[in-house]
Amino acid sequence: MVTVGLVRLLVTGGAGFIGSHVTTALLAAGHHVGVLDVGHPAAHRRPLPSTVDGAEVQRADVRDATAVEAALNGVDAVVHQAAMVGMGVDLDDLPEYVGCNDLGTAVLLSAMARAGVGRLVLASSMVVYGEGAYACDAHGAVSPAPRTEADLAAGRFEPGCPQCGAPLVPGLVDEHARLEPRSVYAATKLAQEHLAAVWARQTGAAAVALRYHNVYGPGMPRDTPYSGVAAIFRSALAAGRAPRVFEDGGQRRDFVHVRDVAAANVAALDATATKGFRAYNVASGRPTTVGAMATALADAMGGPPPTVTGEYRAGDVRHVVASPRRAADELGFRAGVPLGEGIAEFVHAPLRA
Ligand code: UD1
Repeated sequence: MVTVGLVRLLVTGGAGFIGSHVTTALLAAGHHVGVLDVGHPAAHRRPLPSTVDGAEVQRADVRDATAVEAALNGVDAVVHQAAMVGMGVDLDDLPEYVGCNDLGTAVLLSAMARAGVGRLVLASSMVVYGEGAYACDAHGAVSPAPRTEADLAAGRFEPGCPQCGAPLVPGLVDEHARLEPRSVYAATKLAQEHLAAVWARQTGAAAVALRYHNVYGPGMPRDTPYSGVAAIFRSALAAGRAPRVFEDGGQRRDFVHVRDVAAANVAALDATATKGFRAYNVASGRPTTVGAMATALADAMGGPPPTVTGEYRAGDVRHVVASPRRAADELGFRAGVPLGEGIAEFVHAPLRA
């Protein structure tokens, strides 16, 4: 790992759930940080603060080229967290996802090129993989097709081998895996990566994409169509309701603590000393199931046990858990918050209204 000195940074989306933890960690690492954030209503129900941990917040949209150009003045590197996240509500969300995530990234990258800012850390997501890694006893490593509506409606949640239909064994997905986004949000995240890679190649710049797995922790948005499942379960339990676990609860995810994600960004910034594009999983390396997460939260909060509903969402993938190895080898990043400790803190931590 190459270590670089103090850097003047712009953190887009730096007032959001993950962005504010990233801002705090970058400040603690000694960097100078300015924040650009639009206060998007999908993530913010309250007016933006004027500072995040002392870093000044400029309220502007990443699609606003004039505001972005002004915010890049004197900046050495950009940490791009601004995005619309989650599964959304329906396809009416499509233009806003593409606008915020892809047009926003395009405006940012072109402004960076004009300003000669050649270092980017990009918040990407494990959703770029679609389904995670699977193996069939007979056919080895395989990539199952998206699950059909008929399979899901019949409660057949596990994808089968595309060649023989046999049950598959889920494994750890690494950064060489095929990229196959299966939701609008996932498609916009992959487009961001492609744009960043092209930008890095054409300008001789450096871009590091961090493929976050399921981030949880203090400040998570409470309970919106754009919230992650840990916050949805916690909000239900806080209201005395059982968490509603979709499918059969056996879907595997890697829940990674937001402070670990922030630490990964600090490490990734150092890696932008090397030109080119490189992507990394940001994961704990300790997968669990959604059902187990619901039970752990219910136990920690003394609430009713989860209800497994059999509901399903179009575009959801079954299992996606990561190998954290490349980030460990090349960035020196290892998640440090054990899930039990993270949950014990999370059940009492303030959430975002
Ligand atoms: C999540 C994030 C996404 C991020 C990705 C990787 C959200 C909404 N999604 O995707 O932005 O890029 O991790 O970091 O933050 N579920 C239930 N009950 C519910 C809601 C969901 O059982 O009430 C299940 C879903 O069916 C799914 C699992 O929980 O199987 C996870 O869902 P979710 O938290 O939305 O996350 P991902 O789709 O994995």
